[in-house]
Amino acid sequence: MNPGSSTCAVHAGERGERPYHALTTPVVQTSTFTFRDTEDLVGFMRGRMWGEVEGRVDYGRYGNPTVTAAEQKLAALEGGEAALLLSSGMAAVTLVFLSFLSTGTHLILTDDCYRRTRQFARQFLRRWGIDVTVVPMGDYEALEQAIRPKTRLIFSESPTNPYLRVLDLPRVVEIAHRHGVKVAVDATFATPINQRPLEFGVDLVIHSATKYLGGHNDLLAGVVIGSAPLINLLRETQAVVGAVLDPHTAYLLIRGLKTLALRVAHQNESALQVARFLEHHPLVRRVYYPGLPSHPDHAIAIAQMEGFGGVVSFELATDLAGTVAFVDALQIPRIGPSLGGVESLVNQVALTSYYDLGPEGWAEVGISAGLVRLAVGVEDPQDLIADLAQALEAAARADAPSGWLEAVSPVPLEQTSTP
Ligand SMILES: Cc1ncc(COP(=O)(O)O)c(C=O)c1O
Repeated sequence: MNPGSSTCAVHAGERGERPYHALTTPVVQTSTFTFRDTEDLVGFMRGRMWGEVEGRVDYGRYGNPTVTAAEQKLAALEGGEAALLLSSGMAAVTLVFLSFLSTGTHLILTDDCYRRTRQFARQFLRRWGIDVTVVPMGDYEALEQAIRPKTRLIFSESPTNPYLRVLDLPRVVEIAHRHGVKVAVDATFATPINQRPLEFGVDLVIHSATKYLGGHNDLLAGVVIGSAPLINLLRETQAVVGAVLDPHTAYLLIRGLKTLALRVAHQNESALQVARFLEHHPLVRRVYYPGLPSHPDHAIAIAQMEGFGGVVSFELATDLAGTVAFVDALQIPRIGPSLGGVESLVNQVALTSYYDLGPEGWAEVGISAGLVRLAVGVEDPQDLIADLAQALEAAARADAPSGWLEAVSPVPLEQTSTP
């Protein structure tokens, strides 16, 4: 039997006998695992040397049964041989970079990605003598031309943050593999319900599990999924880097994952309705949603995605103050810099991820003051649309900028100043 996504989400990683015949996977809240006697310990040590200790660890940094159950569920959902859970999405992204790159090697990154990812690549990797080329998303000629003999990895989000660009997965895989380069895709915005990059030949899939996979805005986690040899290599790096997931968070993640397919189906449908509504509103200059024919990657999205996700980005035909008036008038979405949970969240991109650049910097990196990212939750779509409509009317009536907005200015911090 080849189970569907919802069956995997509920059962994968959780079959077999449990303590006390419990239905749910227990939280194995321990840092250390013990041995019956020294013979038992030596048997374990010998087995570990030969890679023959399936399902047994001695210390929590090397594994945990609750975390393993969550990893098996995620591997099944994504169609991968193995998965590795980490303490956050950024831990997953940086561990992939640290594991596949070394001094003298080269990374290609597509632009329009989570700003911290770009920051790590440009500031930290370059400091260690790893060269980084950022190519425009959607320019596949530039991507191929950027490949050098020392290129080891192409990294891209799909869909991207915040413009929801969709990577042509088969095309990038064909280019990369022809040159012996690996491809890693951060598919946080898609979830394995909407897109499974491994099926297109991508080597590693990354998610900030903080978002849709957890789904309840109550945990931080990251995951990398791929072939067993690649995940084992990452696991070895994690054992020394130490960015592990704790068992209680793994339990919350398992619980959240059981409803992943239901939540995502609802969010796909609601976001599409919201995007269509916004596209016809006079105060909205542009809507970025891959499910709309107006999106530059609509055809690619149709070809490789089963749904278009719950995030809708859009630009209001107003200034910073007008956009603030819109965001502040919303009654249902809360203001917050995340996405993927059951609660809708709204985020004025210039005032969150790009706050430190100030108005001049926003223009330089192509982030307009009117750009809004709406992460649709599982509320009723008609309520969200009514709320958006009244907030847009409030923005149209907005008065002169509030005094406190004048305080928005660049903060020249070395750590945060990379666009
Ligand atoms: C696409 C993407 N990747 C990675 C991350 C980082 O994940 P985390 O916040 O779990 O570290 C984020 C966070 O917003 C994201 O949007």
